[in-house]
Amino acid sequence: MSHWLPLSRVARLVGISRAALQEHIRSGALETFDGGVALDAVLRVFPDARLEDDSEFQRLEEIKRQAIWRPAHEETLPDRDVLASRLHRVGDEFAAAKVLLMHYDRVLGWLDVKLADLAERTPEADALRAWLADELAAAPPEADRGRTLLARETVMRVMSAHTRLEPSGHDFFVNGDDTVLEAALGAGVPVAYGCSNGTCGACRARLVSGEVRKVRPHDYTFSEADKAAGAFLMCCNTAVADSVVEASVEGCTSIPTQHIPAKVRAVEPLGDFMAALHLTTPRSQRLRFLSGQSVTLTAPDGSTADFPVASCPCEGREVTVHVRRDGGPFAAALDGLGRADTIVIDGPRGSLAFREDRARPVVFIGLDEGFAPLKSLIQHAMSLEFAEPMHLVWAAGAVGQYRDNLCRSWADAFDTFTYTPLAADNAQAAADAVVRAVDTPAGADVYAAGPAPFLEAVRAALVARGLPEDAWRA
Ligand code: FES
Repeated sequence: MSHWLPLSRVARLVGISRAALQEHIRSGALETFDGGVALDAVLRVFPDARLEDDSEFQRLEEIKRQAIWRPAHEETLPDRDVLASRLHRVGDEFAAAKVLLMHYDRVLGWLDVKLADLAERTPEADALRAWLADELAAAPPEADRGRTLLARETVMRVMSAHTRLEPSGHDFFVNGDDTVLEAALGAGVPVAYGCSNGTCGACRARLVSGEVRKVRPHDYTFSEADKAAGAFLMCCNTAVADSVVEASVEGCTSIPTQHIPAKVRAVEPLGDFMAALHLTTPRSQRLRFLSGQSVTLTAPDGSTADFPVASCPCEGREVTVHVRRDGGPFAAALDGLGRADTIVIDGPRGSLAFREDRARPVVFIGLDEGFAPLKSLIQHAMSLEFAEPMHLVWAAGAVGQYRDNLCRSWADAFDTFTYTPLAADNAQAAADAVVRAVDTPAGADVYAAGPAPFLEAVRAALVARGLPEDAWRA
């Protein structure tokens, strides 16, 4: 009987990226079943993985943490009751395994006695008895590595619970004190929700297998039949054990328009021409949006402007936009803004959302501050551990590649990510340079953002080169 491990946990255990793991699966070297991999297959396919030393994995994780946003509480211990429940589960599993071993031991003892009886009459029985004794005395192959891997996997299961959503197939880990909702959103999974405080019922889901536990009180009530069917609120429950959950995932059209007064957290200069406006929404009202969507902002002086959101939906209550300093009254209002001033967010709008269901290479193309929605899309893809190659081509005129270091850190941290910065004086020159630089492998999706003439010139050239119309998103 084999021990099965979820794919995302295998990636962590052997210290490789999800993309590298997918490569092994695609090549047929690693077989999966229902999103899991057998322990002996892991040991066979990764003979060089130094399971006792995860320093390289930790180093990569640290680079990734700096490259994309991660919740600060990711590595905190779970709530005391949750921790106790997980330890109980591990204890139960250990006890069940031990009882089974004792039973096997007894059966082997009986078998030995029976073979000894038979051996008096049949020489083959004597040989079988000797073979059995040798096999039992020999250490199982890969015993040390198997034990190390199992021990680490057990610690991981105590620290976080793996959760898979049905029918979408998304998976993520529930860490620390996170609710299932917080963990899903933090992993970039756009699950349906509303109030996030247990009132509206929009986040109701159904537990298919595993165990969840209520960690926040809620006013929303379930019928006895609902409870018996496994209904629970994702915003008020955490996962105690690895779980499968039936829950809805949102698309652009299902997210309602929201009106949220947010506080200014910082206005961060990005070179001479740009600034990042960082906002924090109220505790009870995070902005529901998909990466690539836009919002309208209204400053205290009444000036308004539309911006693509530059942050990832996985950043919780933090919302960031990139503002061109010469961009009109709203940009001018930034100079007078202080911490805790209120900016009203209305939105989201737009349908430029990441299509993670399409497992194919992705090319991101942007001009100047068109980088902002691409940043949101890229960070969303990274938090989803998107395994396909991603190439960012960013052309810029006077504003320059104002987040150049960030893009380079992505290229350093993710072996599936490449970055090409290009200089261009005008939209046509930028389009020409991009078309020369970009390669659109068969089946690739292209996401583009920038002024309309630039987008149309790039789109026409790529379509003429064979890019299908439905692979172009702008
Ligand atoms: S989001 Fe409203 S009850 Fe969970």
